Amino acid sequence: MTRQSPQAGEKSPGKPAAQRCIAPGCGASFGLGERIYVCSRCGGPLEIDCRLENIPAAKSLPEVWRDRGASPHPRDRSGVWRYRELLPFDDSAPIVTLFEGNTPVYDAPRCAAYCALAELRLKHLGMNPTASFKDTGMTVAVTQAVRVGAQTAMCASTGNTAASLAAYSARANLQCAILLPRGQISSAKLAQSLDYGAIVLELEGNFDDCMRLIRELGDDPSIYVANSINPYRIEGQKTVAFELMEQCGWQVPDHVVVPGGNMGNSSALGKGFSELLRLGLIERQPQISVIQAEGAAPLAHLFAKLDPAQIAEGKELPETLEPVAAPQTLATAIKIGSPVSWKKALRAVLESRGQIISVSEQQIADAKAMVGRDGVGCEPASATTIAGIRKLAATGHIRRTDSVVAFLTGHLLKDADYVSHYHRGTLSLAAETESEPAQELTGAFRNASERVAATKVAILDALQRRK
Ligand code: F0G
Repeated sequence: MTRQSPQAGEKSPGKPAAQRCIAPGCGASFGLGERIYVCSRCGGPLEIDCRLENIPAAKSLPEVWRDRGASPHPRDRSGVWRYRELLPFDDSAPIVTLFEGNTPVYDAPRCAAYCALAELRLKHLGMNPTASFKDTGMTVAVTQAVRVGAQTAMCASTGNTAASLAAYSARANLQCAILLPRGQISSAKLAQSLDYGAIVLELEGNFDDCMRLIRELGDDPSIYVANSINPYRIEGQKTVAFELMEQCGWQVPDHVVVPGGNMGNSSALGKGFSELLRLGLIERQPQISVIQAEGAAPLAHLFAKLDPAQIAEGKELPETLEPVAAPQTLATAIKIGSPVSWKKALRAVLESRGQIISVSEQQIADAKAMVGRDGVGCEPASATTIAGIRKLAATGHIRRTDSVVAFLTGHLLKDADYVSHYHRGTLSLAAETESEPAQELTGAFRNASERVAATKVAILDALQRRK
């Protein structure tokens, strides 16, 4: 199933940008307008080769990008399209934007102390238009969907991809349908997709079942798949690496740490940093570490079994990943047992000498409350990063004085039910079978509300008790 687009994405004379298979020994190349999501020769993962060698005066890009920050033009205001020299579109292509990106970096002294670090910064991607990091990829994927004349954009989702695709499709006046695992996503995320007018299909089964169906549906010429298997999503998400470097004054942090679900985000960051390195805009990559929830950690399991000598040489990496058949976690965004982009993510982590580890439900819950104490807040999946950094600092992989950036991928209000349960002391993870007990989680940083009499004395008394 391939269809040619009317346009190519050349930037300047030289070989045009292309979609390329990254499977070892394949390397097949496809036009930018071919609507494929995996290599049609070998089934391997596709990546976009932006032909960095065609980019003139790469060293001046940081200045060009910075100057666009003051421009009112939509293509400059977007924190993704601002970096368009490294995107596979020509500058006249109409774009679908909600002014995504431009997300803040915060100092987080309480989180730093919690992790036993001198300092820690939080890059809050939950401050995007639909309140998750998905928007940076979706602006590019939906722009491409329009470019290839798609009729219906679709995705499988644990909630955030769905909300983002629904919003961008609405902007583009494109039909959007989303597949969700019934009863397994937060009500806030579901509400967003409904409000943006998507066709919401709730399926019996888990995210991995939805993803399997999406891959089948992608063969239908009327369907455009917007999951991160689509290399255009990765192109948008990689720009977060560029924005972060600008915000760090082009001083490379020692570590960047991200949650891992379907593994698109870690793959994208790896691509972004490696492109900056190839262009000579940074002198080294930060270590990229990925944190999974213990009950949904297939890549952390695989990573733990890799032989360090094999890792150092970066070759003969495993061909298969053993999926987690029934993933379990209250961080529903990353409740994924069979991540589609695991090979790209593993490559990014190994190239940068990072780690892939897992953290427990209790560790996620407490780390999430700690992000709140810094006045920042995030959804549960995002807090895996703080829990993971704490663990990596305890094992010595991260040193006390290292510079560390944790990526927060979703906003606090994406899952308000989880937050209320944590602070009320009623957070629990149901067991796989009814005969087993549920896992009760204690809120180490509980902050339950109190009932007080409606009098001045009672209120002052309540404040006094909390001093
Ligand atoms: N954090 C949040 C808040 C997410 O929504 C997701 C993924 C991740 C982290 C993991 O990122 O998949 O790139 O490794 N959410 C997807 C969705 C699966 O459908 O919204 P990843």
